Amino acid sequence: MTGFVCSPGTRVNGDIRVPGDKSISHRSIILSSIANGRSHISGFLQGEDSLNTITAFRQMGVSIERNGDRVRVDGVGLNGLDAPAGDLDMGNSGTAMRLLLGLLAGQNFDSRLIGDASLSSRPMQRVIDPLQSMGARIESEAGGRAPLQVRSSGGLRAIHYDMPVASAQVKSCLMLAGLYADGETVVREPAPTRDHSERMLKAFGCEVGSTDSVIRIRGGQALTACDVEVPADVSSAAFFMVAAAIAPGSDITLRHVGINPTRTGVIDILRLMGGEIELLSRREIGGEPVADIRVRSAQLTGIDIPLELVPLAIDEFPVLFVAAACARGITRLSGAGELRVKESDRIQVMADGLAELGIETQVKDDGIVVEGGPIGAGRVDAHGDHRIAMAFSVASLRAAGDIRIEDCDNVKTSFPEFVELARAAGLRIDIDDE
Ligand code: S3P
Repeated sequence: MTGFVCSPGTRVNGDIRVPGDKSISHRSIILSSIANGRSHISGFLQGEDSLNTITAFRQMGVSIERNGDRVRVDGVGLNGLDAPAGDLDMGNSGTAMRLLLGLLAGQNFDSRLIGDASLSSRPMQRVIDPLQSMGARIESEAGGRAPLQVRSSGGLRAIHYDMPVASAQVKSCLMLAGLYADGETVVREPAPTRDHSERMLKAFGCEVGSTDSVIRIRGGQALTACDVEVPADVSSAAFFMVAAAIAPGSDITLRHVGINPTRTGVIDILRLMGGEIELLSRREIGGEPVADIRVRSAQLTGIDIPLELVPLAIDEFPVLFVAAACARGITRLSGAGELRVKESDRIQVMADGLAELGIETQVKDDGIVVEGGPIGAGRVDAHGDHRIAMAFSVASLRAAGDIRIEDCDNVKTSFPEFVELARAAGLRIDIDDE
């Protein structure tokens, strides 16, 4: 199992481009596979999660050629997928499993979705329930866990669904199922969540209504192949944003980062804490806003994180807790119970790791209170969660001694070049492959 040994660093500097957005990479393969014609994707994330999505569509007969971060997909049309010969393995990715479940529910063949130990413990009932009310035939393990067996349903019915949780994965799952349903599927989200599916479906020529948190999609619409340029992932950039903010003397520029407003809660939260962040050369590519992000170090101050920012920063909380540990005063987060069902229980796992490093926290059902203070040396466990491993690597910039992080293998699911880029920027990370 890979461990990281991170030595106290000085500062981070430079000009870097982090890899492609994971959410957009998954969607680019899914939509181009069921489109008519050839699509070219550039900037594709070469992480395990998005590569598994390519493998799954190849198993369903789609011809996909990849050369580094460039991918060519020969779409088979809405009803052109073949029955896969074996299980579809989604590895560590909740996004892949939930989105594919929506798509597979509408096919005229059986399929079975499996994942690793973490994914097999994550809640799938939130997508199984609405899909079953559309007529899908899905069998799960106890408690709505994977493996998931999907049976040919003989056609889905459109539904109107009020989502109980603000989840882009649930929304996107139902939109994909809605493409195969008879009539118009209408989904209402309780709070805005990432809208990459809506944007990309439109780019593929599909009509999607999205106003006032209500998304509408009519079944049977054909998608037309389209080229997709994937921006750098703001969730990966976030590690360097916090690194630069907390390490005195830092100044870093992150190139070509997606700044879709449904993803930029991390920037808003860091600014509220006193972070110095500039968005430069704002532009739009393929329907997604992009900018270069310059971050300089600043004294951060604890805040009460505004509730409306929670879904917009949902993946960035592990590293934001590190920012909170380095801030003056107290940071309070609530309304973030979803963090407990990510790749790990990110509230408890971060609280345990921070405690090892001498930072006081109070754990709540739906959040945490972090009191800023000096970060000590110690040994923490990432529990196989990529974002926890990277968050504690960043903490080393302000640590009194080495931080040893266990179980870091899954960094390769979202950010295989993390160690290399982090070292180039100034972090001191050794890999221990014991
Ligand atoms: C994602 C949605 C979010 C996020 C995940 C990616 C997506 O999950 O945490 O990393 O691509 O739709 P939820 O929708 O479950 O909050």
